[in-house]
Amino acid sequence: MPTLSKRVQKLQSSGIRVIARMAAKIPNCIKLHIGIPNFFTPEHIKAAGIAAIKNNFTKYTHNSGEELVRRAIAKRINYKFRKMTLKHGSFINFENITVTAGGMGGLSTSITAITDPGDEILIPNPGWPNFYMIPMSQGVKYRFYPLKAKNGFVPQSEDIESKITKKTKVILINTPANPTGAVIPEKIIRQIVKLAQKYNLFILSDESYDDIIFEGTHFSPYALNQKHVIVVRSCSKSYAMTGWRVGYTISSKEIAEKLMELNECQIACVPSMSQMAAKAAIEGSQICVRQMVKSYKKRRDLVVNLLKKYELYGYTPRGAFYILVDISSSGLDSDEFARQFLVKKRVSVAPGSTFGSHANSYVRICFAASEGDISQGIKRLAEFIKHGT
Ligand SMILES: Cc1ncc(COP(=O)(O)O)c(C=O)c1O
Repeated sequence: MPTLSKRVQKLQSSGIRVIARMAAKIPNCIKLHIGIPNFFTPEHIKAAGIAAIKNNFTKYTHNSGEELVRRAIAKRINYKFRKMTLKHGSFINFENITVTAGGMGGLSTSITAITDPGDEILIPNPGWPNFYMIPMSQGVKYRFYPLKAKNGFVPQSEDIESKITKKTKVILINTPANPTGAVIPEKIIRQIVKLAQKYNLFILSDESYDDIIFEGTHFSPYALNQKHVIVVRSCSKSYAMTGWRVGYTISSKEIAEKLMELNECQIACVPSMSQMAAKAAIEGSQICVRQMVKSYKKRRDLVVNLLKKYELYGYTPRGAFYILVDISSSGLDSDEFARQFLVKKRVSVAPGSTFGSHANSYVRICFAASEGDISQGIKRLAEFIKHGT
């Protein structure tokens, strides 16, 4: 057989998926490893997808996404961030929007659009595994910048600056963040934008969890600079739509045209019926989002209280639905810990190592699960850390 691409040979499934495959074979397993909301897609969104199919809206759309969908997205963002947009004049037009195959599609096409093989992209450590898997699959180099527990896992611009080389082309930031739940404050976003301007770099801002914030407010670097910044967003988490595969980017029109061409040669377009479901989600009442966020906040508080009770508390996530828990006192590395914990206690968590070396002594819990599963899962986690059984 001819050899596969050297780049692709190096690719490996993330530790999240490895645990997912093991967990699928374990009966009655409590699943806290993966970021899937335990809500169903709201009825009005499903109805719009079904109506699209019934009305034969089942063909290719514009490569950038159906214009009506992009208009709905632009309108929602201008409304949602009206204080930010009014203050900074960063109004968004439908031509700044590209509908992508989830946030993942947005990240992937954006990285293709702004890098050449050999260029470097700076990514957070700890950070979501796709942040290194995507550049790796494209022959783009990645370098980690540290997120430190003592800073609440919020990036510091001096830590990013110290990693910039002549090859650096992109700084990737993620707010609210997976796997830490950290939200980057405006002050630090401003510093990162200044860095990007100083070194003439792009900022790729993954804001897939922008709706899921418990304290503080979301601030996007796009408000400050529309030429250097590409924003990646998603319907997956906000509207419990992970399987519909709809996300979008916000960028300059020049970049949006290139993203359109990349969509053309990679996916043609996001499935037409999914686009219509997303339009209903974005145009419709946002009460469903508020209800889900309220419920995630309740679960976040439950997790924090349980970790305090079992003396495992480290910090409080301010957004998304993840938390890192320090397991160093177990004496196991995070991969071994996640495997043994799953087999012995039937609870799946994501090993920290998959998010980068700075999370080696942690596991990630996703609290988009039921309160019962969270309580039982953390009880077993505490027992396992203490007694290994
Ligand atoms: C940080 C982050 N960005 C992007 C995504 C992409 O999600 P999707 O492709 O479903 O929109 C995820 C999914 O877990 C994520 O955690």
